[in-house]
Amino acid sequence: MTSDTRNKIALITGGNRGLGKDMALSLAKLGMDIVLTFNSNPAEGEAVAQEIRLSGGRAAALRFDLSDTAAIDGFIDRLKATLSETFDGAERLDFLINNAGIGRPIP
Ligand SMILES: NC(=O)c1ccc[n+]([C@@H]2O[C@H](COP(=O)([O-])OP(=O)(O)OC[C@H]3O[C@@H](n4cnc5c(N)ncnc54)[C@H](OP(=O)(O)O)[C@@H]3O)[C@@H](O)[C@H]2O)c1
Repeated sequence: MTSDTRNKIALITGGNRGLGKDMALSLAKLGMDIVLTFNSNPAEGEAVAQEIRLSGGRAAALRFDLSDTAAIDGFIDRLKATLSETFDGAERLDFLINNAGIGRPIP
């Protein structure tokens, strides 16, 4: 942990599994506060957040479907409420990791 990372807040989209989960856990180990999003797997999202909390960190998991542009305003409202309630009234993020997405092997 360094003074550069402690209690900085990182938002990681798709943080419930795969590369996003790995980044969420790795950044939490550096002392960062983590907001992660999931789309279809809320239990996975909460499990990652809980793993971080059990290790002494702060984390929250929020649903966000990136394909639904109409849902963006609602997500921002929930994000602001989460920052206020869980992250000492923080009003901004320090890092954004745009990870969520799908890949398809194309021969
Ligand atoms: N793994 C690789 O080798 C590789 C290579 C190049 C690029 N990438 C890119 O790196 C990123 C992560 O890869 P990964 O292998 O870790 O993927 P993954 O295990 O398939 O996980 C995908 C993540 O994206 C989320 N997601 C999918 N569709 C979404 C949507 N419409 N709205 C919000 N979230 C959505 C999933 O959430 P739910 O589980 O809740 O649905 C999940 O958290 C992807 O963008 C992928 O294209 C990966």
